[in-house]
Amino acid sequence: PIELRINDLLEKMTLEEKVMQLNQYTLGRNDNANNMADPINDIPAEIGSLIYFSSNPELRNRVQRKAMEQSRLGIPIIFGYDVIHGFKTIYPISLAQACSWNPDLVQQATAVAAQESRMSGVDWTFSPMIDVARDGRWGRVAEGYGEDPYTNGVFAVASVKGYQGKDLSSPVKVAACLKHYVGYGASEAGRDYVYTEISDQTLWDTYLPPYEAGVKAGAATLMSSFNDISGTPGTANTSLLRTVLKEGWKHDGFVVSDWGAIEQLRSQGVVEDKKEAAWKAFTAGVEMDMMNQSYDKHLAALVKEGKVGQQILDDAVKRVLRIKFRLGLFEKPYTPEIAEKERFLLAKSRAIAARLAEESIVLLKNEQNALPLAGFKKIAVIGPMSNSKWHLLGSWRAHGNAEDASTIYDDIKQEFGNKIKVSQAQGCDFDGSDQSGFVEANRQAQEADAVVICLGEKANWSGENASRSSISLPVIQEELLAVLKKSGKPIILLISSGRPLDLSRLEPMCDAILSMWQPGTTGGKAIAAVLSGKINPSGKLAMTFPYSSGQIPIYYNHRQSARPNQGKYQDIPIKPLYDFGHGLSYTTFEYAELKASSSSIKVSETLTVEVAVKNTGNRDGMETVHWYIFDPVNSISRPVKELKFFQKQFIRKGETKVFSFQIDPKRDLGFVNAKGEKFVEAGDYYLTVKDKKIKLELLKE
Ligand code: IFM
Repeated sequence: PIELRINDLLEKMTLEEKVMQLNQYTLGRNDNANNMADPINDIPAEIGSLIYFSSNPELRNRVQRKAMEQSRLGIPIIFGYDVIHGFKTIYPISLAQACSWNPDLVQQATAVAAQESRMSGVDWTFSPMIDVARDGRWGRVAEGYGEDPYTNGVFAVASVKGYQGKDLSSPVKVAACLKHYVGYGASEAGRDYVYTEISDQTLWDTYLPPYEAGVKAGAATLMSSFNDISGTPGTANTSLLRTVLKEGWKHDGFVVSDWGAIEQLRSQGVVEDKKEAAWKAFTAGVEMDMMNQSYDKHLAALVKEGKVGQQILDDAVKRVLRIKFRLGLFEKPYTPEIAEKERFLLAKSRAIAARLAEESIVLLKNEQNALPLAGFKKIAVIGPMSNSKWHLLGSWRAHGNAEDASTIYDDIKQEFGNKIKVSQAQGCDFDGSDQSGFVEANRQAQEADAVVICLGEKANWSGENASRSSISLPVIQEELLAVLKKSGKPIILLISSGRPLDLSRLEPMCDAILSMWQPGTTGGKAIAAVLSGKINPSGKLAMTFPYSSGQIPIYYNHRQSARPNQGKYQDIPIKPLYDFGHGLSYTTFEYAELKASSSSIKVSETLTVEVAVKNTGNRDGMETVHWYIFDPVNSISRPVKELKFFQKQFIRKGETKVFSFQIDPKRDLGFVNAKGEKFVEAGDYYLTVKDKKIKLELLKE
């Protein structure tokens, strides 16, 4: 019936009304003319979409009422917003979420974001970002799920399910938007908005798979990328937008441009003017113009001149209307005006955010079981991150408030109660050269039995257009650590950041290191519980920590090289400081040999491989098993290993749990060529889990 209703409506629409459906303006707090405007007077009643910066349903309803009552056909507006890691209850950044290896939990967290958003008047989030990212200098690594295509795909599916649920018309669900289609993570030198050099092979191997997974999971929309892909901008890329996405994957929702990206085709040198930009983006398959007024100024003329066919115009309008119908906006255009306390920071929402924060913390180092903290009477909590709430929230924090979070210092005090005395000093700022706080920090370190030093990045050091040329911490923070190290006390380093960092100079000075990323509203509590041992850390890295910025790009699934382990640097090792998948626990896990149901398999068969994992330590804990495939000889050189499956399980001390992976050769042993065609080649493959490895023979049918 939705299709009938769409056709029925389309028949009634004038050219101008159709074109208006394909435009997105904004309504809220930023500095362009649309935002300054009075929403009621200056927003056209026929507008297709608005970016909605408010959290007040009343404002939405006023604007929506204008659309419903003053436009000729009463077509509701779809309100979109960047709800990236929470709306009010802020949970950890996506890169941290990936380190939890717990897609179910991510699904629950995105469901919280959906509930808070939809109840506040937002129908559509510009999330998840699933750009595979291998350059930590790029500020947007914070927003994606790390360096691995499979991992990005799994979390794309989890978040699409969490945002959208089974029925988009639910009052607690929102439409998702996979972004930025495609290759944004490959932006050269880690700079935003620039060019990429991506071969067709790499496009299919690395950058497209998460999108295919997200589209198959039913993502309502996608956002085209700012960058060009070896010369053709994402926003004008007919082959990727039409041939791959719409014809190949049968996506029936719509594509929105990034902010201003249509006109920027001119800066990218592929069009002469705004009108040609509108023509190029639209015919390539970008249905909605975000904040550019290219379509509303030029699309009608382009149709009248015959440069844009009626059919593609109608197809675009149908796609937008389809999502509006699925969201139930025609039936329920208004948002119930419910008090904030019934929408935001509900106890169960905070609990989900807290669990996700706990599970995404990665224990990078723990010499002599320095953690959990035990047997100490007094600890000094030092460093610029120790008394910050704001920076724990990270970038793109939507309506998250620092006041709803607590500082690491407060949470440590709370966690240890009267058992341990806790002092605090900032020591220094995040950057700059003021060392005047070192004296007090050092005094407290001298008086304490152990030092918890809280360093890291400010929230705005990552996110959009927040690249860094070096992923080290500013010198002042390293100097503070060096001063405290002289105290001779155990040094526990807590790092909060929006990217992997170069910790090679800090690492030798620390007994233990925890990466907490930007853990959100409940992050301080999570880290305090890990310090005390109430929570046993279980996060593992979804992005490699290089030894230094000079190793970038560095990632685990690189292709085989002509001389393995050669190609050295004169000055630094070739190995990263911490590998993809690295993460310690307070307990120990012993892996048995891998057991396969057979050592050979035909393409049409499946085969199960199991590994028994025993918790051999003194604490219960969670362990994630990563299953990798290696195809040593193929018609094209394949990666040294590729993650194909992962699973996380809780294992009590002394207990053994079996993890299993069912291999489907077409899915797990196959590969794509540069045209996106899938192949499976007979021959030997290796399956690895940690240091365990078995050979599997793929037989001809
Ligand atoms: O959704 C974002 C996108 O990721 C980057 N540019 C702006 C958009 C809307 O805020």
